[in-house]
Amino acid sequence: MEPRLPSGRWATAAMLLLLLALSGSIVEARPMGANMTGRAFIPFRVGRVTPQGWLLKQLELQAEGLGGHLAHFWDDVMNSVWIGGDADGGLHERVPYWLNGMVPLAFLLKNANSPFAYHGIKDVHQPDDQLCQANVDMQNHDITNFPVQRPEDCRQSCLNNTACVAIVLNNCTNPPTCWLKSGIGRADETTCRCFGVVKPFTAEEGIMNQTERFINHILNAQAASGWLGPDDMPTSGDMYWGNFPVLLSLAMYAEGNPTMEETIATAMLKFFQEANRRMSNVPMSDWSQARGMDFALAVQWVLENAPNGQEAFLQDFLATVQNQTLDWETWFQDFTTGASPHGVNNAQALKSSGVWYLSTGDPSFTESSKDRMRNMDDFYGMASGMFCADEILCEANERKMPSRGTELCAVVEAMFSYNTLFSVHGDVAFADRAERIAYNALPATFASPRGGDMWSHQYLQGLNEINAQVSDDHVWTHDGGDAQLYGLAPNYGCCTANFGQGWPKFANMLLYERNDGSVAVGAYGPVAGTSTNGVFVNMTTEYPYGDTVSIAVHTNYSTTLHLRIPTWAHTAQVEIDGSAVSNITAGIMNPVAIPAGKHTVLVNLKPEIRLEHWYSEETVSVHRGALMYSLPIQGSYTTLVEYAYESNDYQVLPTSEWRYALDLDFDNITSNFEFSNPGLGKDLVAFNHTAWGATIATKGRVVPNWEIAHNAAAAPPASPVCDDVQCQPTQSITLVPYGGTDLRISEFPWA
Ligand SMILES: *[C@@H]1O[C@H](CO)[C@@H](O)[C@H](O)[C@H]1NC(C)=O
Ligand SMILES: *[C@@H]1O[C@H](CO)[C@@H](O)[C@H](O)[C@H]1NC(C)=O
Ligand SMILES: *[C@@H]1O[C@H](CO)[C@@H](O)[C@H](O)[C@H]1NC(C)=O
Ligand SMILES: *[C@@H]1O[C@H](CO)[C@@H](O)[C@H](O)[C@H]1NC(C)=O
Ligand SMILES: *[C@@H]1O[C@H](CO)[C@@H](O)[C@H](O)[C@H]1NC(C)=O
Ligand SMILES: *[C@@H]1O[C@H](CO)[C@@H](O)[C@H](O)[C@H]1NC(C)=O
Ligand SMILES: *[C@@H]1O[C@H](CO)[C@@H](O)[C@H](O)[C@H]1NC(C)=O
Ligand SMILES: *[C@@H]1O[C@H](CO)[C@@H](O)[C@H](O)[C@H]1NC(C)=O
Ligand SMILES: *[C@@H]1O[C@H](CO)[C@@H](O)[C@H](O)[C@H]1NC(C)=O
Ligand SMILES: *[C@@H]1O[C@H](CO)[C@@H](O)[C@H](O)[C@H]1NC(C)=O
Repeated sequence: MEPRLPSGRWATAAMLLLLLALSGSIVEARPMGANMTGRAFIPFRVGRVTPQGWLLKQLELQAEGLGGHLAHFWDDVMNSVWIGGDADGGLHERVPYWLNGMVPLAFLLKNANSPFAYHGIKDVHQPDDQLCQANVDMQNHDITNFPVQRPEDCRQSCLNNTACVAIVLNNCTNPPTCWLKSGIGRADETTCRCFGVVKPFTAEEGIMNQTERFINHILNAQAASGWLGPDDMPTSGDMYWGNFPVLLSLAMYAEGNPTMEETIATAMLKFFQEANRRMSNVPMSDWSQARGMDFALAVQWVLENAPNGQEAFLQDFLATVQNQTLDWETWFQDFTTGASPHGVNNAQALKSSGVWYLSTGDPSFTESSKDRMRNMDDFYGMASGMFCADEILCEANERKMPSRGTELCAVVEAMFSYNTLFSVHGDVAFADRAERIAYNALPATFASPRGGDMWSHQYLQGLNEINAQVSDDHVWTHDGGDAQLYGLAPNYGCCTANFGQGWPKFANMLLYERNDGSVAVGAYGPVAGTSTNGVFVNMTTEYPYGDTVSIAVHTNYSTTLHLRIPTWAHTAQVEIDGSAVSNITAGIMNPVAIPAGKHTVLVNLKPEIRLEHWYSEETVSVHRGALMYSLPIQGSYTTLVEYAYESNDYQVLPTSEWRYALDLDFDNITSNFEFSNPGLGKDLVAFNHTAWGATIATKGRVVPNWEIAHNAAAAPPASPVCDDVQCQPTQSITLVPYGGTDLRISEFPWA
């Protein structure tokens, strides 16, 4: 644990001004915002980070994939109520989720001079010739419906209607019924209906252009009362929730574009005042009440950055928000009272103790943060670093089923929560975890026949996943049969909008600064950035494929680089300008003194292959450094539904053997494995599904009695297997990064 500093960052910035004045450098003094306790490590502000290498490529894959195109064909973003349309109904959370990823993505790509920032790609999608795809329906987004004489008339009517882009036709009725659709939503399997995209789509608008179009509309449409966005549930305590991600997006946008800071802080303050008035009559409930910590983060941002003399109001309002939020602190002790088991709520709420610690400085929240991660692991943990929750946390006895899933929204929210806890408390365990989820669970949930792009995602990912198909009889208990398909919006559209925050927010939470002007690396990956005091840090690495990270530090004053040495890196070595740094310790932030000038710090993490046991030794997973290694199962793809651009729903069925137990010598773990690291090659696609950056060769035996249950791999047979059961002879198998598989086995029985 890092010692925390007592006062706000700007108070210390003023002290630095004093110090730096002596050396002739200028640091802009900022008024102290409030009595905030302060974060141990403050992420570099949005707009100060430049992604490079594979991470830039990953962000570009997001921009040229689904994330960068939703505003051009997916009704809930394209025609959202947030920009004057009529889609994005219910909680109005789709555009908020989407912006929360687009804003940081836009600034990252802009800094990297990526063509996607402003121009995107000239991307034209022509509908195919067939009238429509049989046995597919699409809910919502209706313009009108009417009977037609011939199916072809339905298509013609759509061509004649400027708002229409797609049709659904029921040709089992006589005459057939035709629905005209204003946008594309989630498809459903059905009989008698067919769905077809009629109009061509053309997109050229870059990520920054899309982002600014939405941000400007939202600011310009602010009501005189101060309310932002749609306002059609004035008596529901759920009305506040949709605004939380919008407020966080506005704050990030203001960081990236400081000329907008005053305008945005004023708009946010007016919103808080209106929300405060409403909350005395209509307290937060449901999603709002579960997720109040995200609201508080936005209030804290205004308090720290531009309180405009409203410190007292903002402090009081923070207390009100905290008071109206569910008691997650009690919940995370034993998961019985205080809150409830909804998976995404739990993922978001992981950070509540950190957020309340910032508001209050109460040290009991520090303990609460530590305890909750351990308790979550004990009750629900899985080898990906996530917890088992297909919508609702799994019951204890269901956890022995690694085919059960974890929702993509929970993955990206848990990443942000754990990074926030690291930022607040400075405890390496949280950064280890955020990095583990980012480099495993996040990429594992995307797949397409092109291997490694970001056009199709799942709602639920399974650690052991032998197919991605529509399963009416399925092993998960709370989601629909299509929840493990790779597609546009399998099961539900929330993750389609929400996944976008994953990579960009992670890229913005690798580099940190402290109140004393020093800098820190919280997670490793190829980015460069400049702190508010002008310290330039540039990480060059193929990590998590490479084991070394070269960090250039340029500073005008002697300072400290705090390096996270992951808990697994117990033989890590660090050099500065070629000289070894002594006393490097795993599991803590290691301070390395950096004199004024330009220096190179070389970190060699020297990971070893390690095994983790799950469910009382019954299964084993294989890890090296930040990556988990899985058995890839060959998959055969079938396109189920075609939408626009490259957006399709895919079924993937297994074509290779998956029933392997690892044949292990536990007396000498390293003797079981042969690691090879071909690197990422010039494409730099970190999570390609065939051209893997690293693989591990090992030995396995097929276990014939490992069965299929509910269309999924049954719980792995009790280990050690092959004593009572006749297993097939030992053979060589190759394990690959979990994030680079379509289908896989990750929790193995062992022989
Ligand atoms: C800051 O808050 C702490 C705890 O509430 C309080 O003891 C202290 O007096 C406050 N300091 C200022 C400057 O308001
Ligand atoms: C579409 O518009 C054309 C030209 O106005 C008209 O001839 C045709 O009947 C219309 N078709 C349908 C199905 O509305
Ligand atoms: C309905 O239309 C689809 C797509 O054109 C076609 O495949 C199907 O045979 C039609 N069904 C009937 C009952 O006409
Ligand atoms: C995107 O925004 C930039 C800067 O405002 C502008 O120059 C450019 O024309 C826009 N491009 C598109 C395709 O809208
Ligand atoms: C917290 O909420 C309770 C009602 O749930 C209310 O009685 C109390 O005054 C509130 N406290 C603050 C600080 O808002
Ligand atoms: C992954 O690698 C294969 C083989 O080199 C290549 O064909 C494919 O385009 C790559 N995928 C992506 C998304 O670049
Ligand atoms: C640090 O020094 C360099 C070179 O003299 C200068 O370009 C840069 O602006 C300085 N940075 C700050 C924050 O003063
Ligand atoms: C970081 O260093 C690499 C390797 O020297 C270099 O190619 C890259 O341009 C640097 N990044 C920045 C933002 O200067
Ligand atoms: C080594 O580092 C640890 C953790 O920072 C510290 O507690 C210890 O005093 C250091 N030992 C030496 C000899 O510097
Ligand atoms: C463990 O296995 C490795 C590789 O097979 C071998 O080099 C090493 O000597 C073994 N260690 C022990 C303690 O047997």
